[in-house]
This record gives sequence, C-alpha cells and structure tokens, in this order.
Amino acid sequence: MSKEEKYKALLPQAKALCEGETDMIAQMANLAALLHHEFGFWWTGFYRVKRSEVGGLRPDVPDAEATSDLQPPTSDLILGPFQGPLACMHIGYGKGVCGTAWKERRTVVVPDVEEFPGHIACSSESRSEIVVPIFEKAEVGGQRSEVIAVLDIDSRELATFDDTDRRYLEQLVSYINL
Ligand code: SME
Repeated sequence: MSKEEKYKALLPQAKALCEGETDMIAQMANLAALLHHEFGFWWTGFYRVKRSEVGGLRPDVPDAEATSDLQPPTSDLILGPFQGPLACMHIGYGKGVCGTAWKERRTVVVPDVEEFPGHIACSSESRSEIVVPIFEKAEVGGQRSEVIAVLDIDSRELATFDDTDRRYLEQLVSYINL
C-alpha cells in the first residue's frame, strides 16, 4: 500500500475517533496510537502549549531584578500523549523543530535532523521528522488563531516525510475537538 493509500484509509478512522469526544488528551492519545502503529514510526506524539507557572525577568529592563519588573508568564511546549521511547518534557518557543513549528505557525518537514540547526535529539535514533501545528480554531476574517499544540513524528530513516504527509497530517489534526 502506498503512503497516500494508507493515509486515505486512516483518515476516516481518525475522524471517527474524534467525533463526539470533547477531551483533547483522549483524542490525542488514540491518534498517536493509530498513526504510530499504522506507519511504524519511531516516535509519534503531541506537545501542548502550556503557560509557565511564573514569569521571568524582563531582558529589556536593565535593572529588572531591583525593580521586580517581571515579564508576564511565558509559555512552553509540554509533552502530551505519545507512543515510542521517552522524550523531553519541555520545549521552549522557537526551540528545536517543535518550537520552530509553533513560532512559525507552519508544518516543518526535516529530511535530516542533523541538518536542522537547534534540533533537539530526544533519541539518537531519530533521523527525520515532521511537526504539524494545531490551531485553536480555523482562521476566519484575518483573525489569527493561537497554536495550542503540535503533532511531532520521528522516523529512524532519512527523508521519511514530504508534502503528502504534511497534507494528510494537517487534515488529521483538524479533526481534534479542542
Ligand atoms: N526533535 C524534537 C524534540 C521532540 S522529540 O523528537 C520527541 C525537536 O527538535 O523539537
């Protein structure tokens, strides 16, 4: 079966899994399992955007410590439901492939992780990767929608992912009821 045929068979299942379910974590857990076992990926999972508990010192205020001029709480990505080996639990905005997809609000396809500056190697086995951002809601009338999570998939082979994966995976994550 070609990759395209696999996705075509899998999308209706993914849609059915999400239909009528309101718990985002439950949907993510089953989608990760579905993708992981159907394709035999190395690591398949989600990171969610989570506000940090506390703010940090403002880098733009020279004497921030003395004035207690703190920046508002920031966010980072926190590990969500996944299948595969252990993974890092926090990823900063703009960091690694996941943080880049979050910041740039687009799917990032990495044919060779060693060629991606700042790639975070949760596993030395991972050779290529795709990260798909998940938006809070469809963007309507020029209104920007927040990225609330990302889907991250790693492969042990080089150049596993291409535009076909991007297209189908973007469709798949749109089924999640947030
Ligand atoms: N490689 C990712 C980190 C997450 S793991 O692959 C599960 C990155 O660079 O963001």
